[in-house]
Amino acid sequence: MIDHKDRTSNTQWGSKLGFIAAAAGSAVGLGNIWRFPYITGQNGGGVFVLFYLLCVIVLGFPIMVAEVTIGRTTQSSPVRAYGELSNHSRLWQTVGLVGVITGAVILSYYSVVAGWGLHYLMLSLVGWFPQVNTPEAYTNLFDSLHQSVGLNIWWQSIFMIITTWVVLRGVRGGLEQVANIGMVTLFGIIVVLTIYASTLPGFGSALDFVFGHAERFTWVSALEALGQAFFSLSLGMGAMLTYGSYLKLHDDTVGTSLVISLADTAVAVAACLIIFPITFSVGLEPAAGPGLVFINIPLALHQLPFGGVGMFVFFLLLFIAALTSAISLLEVATAFLIDSLGWRRLKAAIICGAIVYFLGLPSAASGGSGLFGNGMEQLIGMTWFDAVDYLASNWLLPLGGIGISLFVGWHINSQRRLSEFREGSWLGSLGWVYSVWVFLIRWFAPGAIAFVMLNVLGILS
Ligand code: PFF
Repeated sequence: MIDHKDRTSNTQWGSKLGFIAAAAGSAVGLGNIWRFPYITGQNGGGVFVLFYLLCVIVLGFPIMVAEVTIGRTTQSSPVRAYGELSNHSRLWQTVGLVGVITGAVILSYYSVVAGWGLHYLMLSLVGWFPQVNTPEAYTNLFDSLHQSVGLNIWWQSIFMIITTWVVLRGVRGGLEQVANIGMVTLFGIIVVLTIYASTLPGFGSALDFVFGHAERFTWVSALEALGQAFFSLSLGMGAMLTYGSYLKLHDDTVGTSLVISLADTAVAVAACLIIFPITFSVGLEPAAGPGLVFINIPLALHQLPFGGVGMFVFFLLLFIAALTSAISLLEVATAFLIDSLGWRRLKAAIICGAIVYFLGLPSAASGGSGLFGNGMEQLIGMTWFDAVDYLASNWLLPLGGIGISLFVGWHINSQRRLSEFREGSWLGSLGWVYSVWVFLIRWFAPGAIAFVMLNVLGILS
């Protein structure tokens, strides 16, 4: 057994609240505000949302505890953590490495969407929106941004520079500081916008759509909901593991994971309760796809009281949410290079930022008519952007989830697993909580994820 010392203080969170803010900041992101509402719309609301909530409770939360606890006990980034607890097994280290690569892939297109948010934030700041209130005018506005490779690259560059800058400032001075400020602002904005949306005439139909509607639920929808749970909770690629590694050895991991999961879920539901009332109040379609928040929100807000301010506040929310998540995506690769190659943080962050940036250029070009956009769409039915999003969130993250579950459920010494689970945690010291968790991690999580995947592949049905 490896006996670890705490990390030095500048690579540790300044406080427990700092960790919660940073981890919730990682979880709450474009996944909640941009992705969840639009895939809920595409999958018909209702049953999809319930299945998503189920995935969060029985898969997401237990896996988050596993990741954060492995991070805390090894005080190391994913690849080293897997290595240390498995006698340097190649196989397990590869699982960690796949996570690092998945993070880079996700950030490569995530930064493009965040860039759209920045563009709209600028538009709302200068009040430059179409004068005519037609869906076509706002669709054109989004399309012209989406299709312009130059504009996409411009905003993506700015977003990546900001993200890299925060990461190179380190755990306390960068990650934690931005998360503390960002999360307070974010929750404030969410509350205000939810109250605003609840006064709109479409609120009733929105509630009905999100919770009461049932249609088109298939295995493919199940995999989407499952993938979305991993994406939204930042699981399956070592982000929570890395953040857990900056905890002190005796900090609680079970209770804090519960708080983070709840916060993330609350924001996802709130985002639907903000976006759908606005959408329905002006008679728009919920199944608009990735453009949902970029077309419906400005179009609708434009026609509503205090719409101009609402627009600015909404896109500010989107930007903060995107930034605190992007930071965690970049931190995984950066921590890997610091831990495994002994690089300085400055060098590691800049090199990772640059690699992700270049990896993201095809995504930035995906709205255009070139190879990565139309070209690929004709070849495989998806643009580069859609393909990497689909691959990373529906397959790589859940596969990473199977990896961490099997590792913690079967590979780790059971005495150590029990004592680590209990360490510093009131919730973790309850015997039945531990038993349920072990069952979920050992059997249920790997089995259920594999079952859904095999069905989607048509192997079981
Ligand atoms: N959870 C983030 C979101 O919902 O936008 C995205 C994300 C961050 C996914 C970090 C994975 C990750 F490791």
